[in-house]
Amino acid sequence: MARSRSLKDRVLGQYRTQSFLTRLFLWLRWRLTFFERLLACVPRQGLVVDIGCGHGLWPVALVLDAPAREVVGYDPDRRRIEQAERVAAQVPRVRFTSHWEDLASLGPTSVTVVDVLILLPPRDKERLLGWASDHLVPGGTLLLKVNGTEPRLKHWFSLMEERFMTSVGPTHATSGLHSWPVAEYVTLCQALGFEITRVERLDRWYHPQPHSLIVAEKPATPARVRRRS
Ligand SMILES: C[S@@+](CC[C@H](N)C(=O)[O-])C[C@H]1O[C@@H](n2cnc3c(N)ncnc32)[C@H](O)[C@@H]1O
Repeated sequence: MARSRSLKDRVLGQYRTQSFLTRLFLWLRWRLTFFERLLACVPRQGLVVDIGCGHGLWPVALVLDAPAREVVGYDPDRRRIEQAERVAAQVPRVRFTSHWEDLASLGPTSVTVVDVLILLPPRDKERLLGWASDHLVPGGTLLLKVNGTEPRLKHWFSLMEERFMTSVGPTHATSGLHSWPVAEYVTLCQALGFEITRVERLDRWYHPQPHSLIVAEKPATPARVRRRS
């Protein structure tokens, strides 16, 4: 418990020169995103590519949690990446980019996608997870944190929240909101050749959003991949 608290302080401490609003936002994200539970599902060494990294809170947590991890964070929002880069200047083994092409030559051991997929239409979800399937090393880990669609009240609340964050708030989104049941993400991962190793509901009754974690592995021997047309 003490270890977790000190990790949170070390991660949030990296943002101490950012504005009060940014620090408040990141503090809330840390409280509501279950990062500590996600960390336990990512291998403690190797290269992690985090897609949709925002301010870089999760990539910074990944490297401060395990010194043998290296992280590349990608986000299409240049302003977020500039903020993340300012922080990363003091944090070893983490770098950021807003250029998708920069990821092309990487062979990550893990790919993480945290609270991003709801922003992508089905075709883009498939492209993104297809990229992970193509680029992960054999035996590599895919970690997804998603908002599911059950129970309906929590689903409704998370849609309202995302609508606020993508219209009035700071989240970059160009294609609206596209929620899927957790089972649909699982089916897509399996169709792309992943073996599902864990599916877990993260929220308790008092959390307002229906958060789930999906962990999958790219088999050491590639399976037949069915891309949906
Ligand atoms: C709710 S934020 C999550 C940020 C971060 N993963 C975290 O957990 O703190 C969603 C992020 O997805 C990014 N995003 C939007 N469209 C994207 C896309 N097509 N590919 C990757 N990231 C995208 C946004 O810029 C935003 O930073």
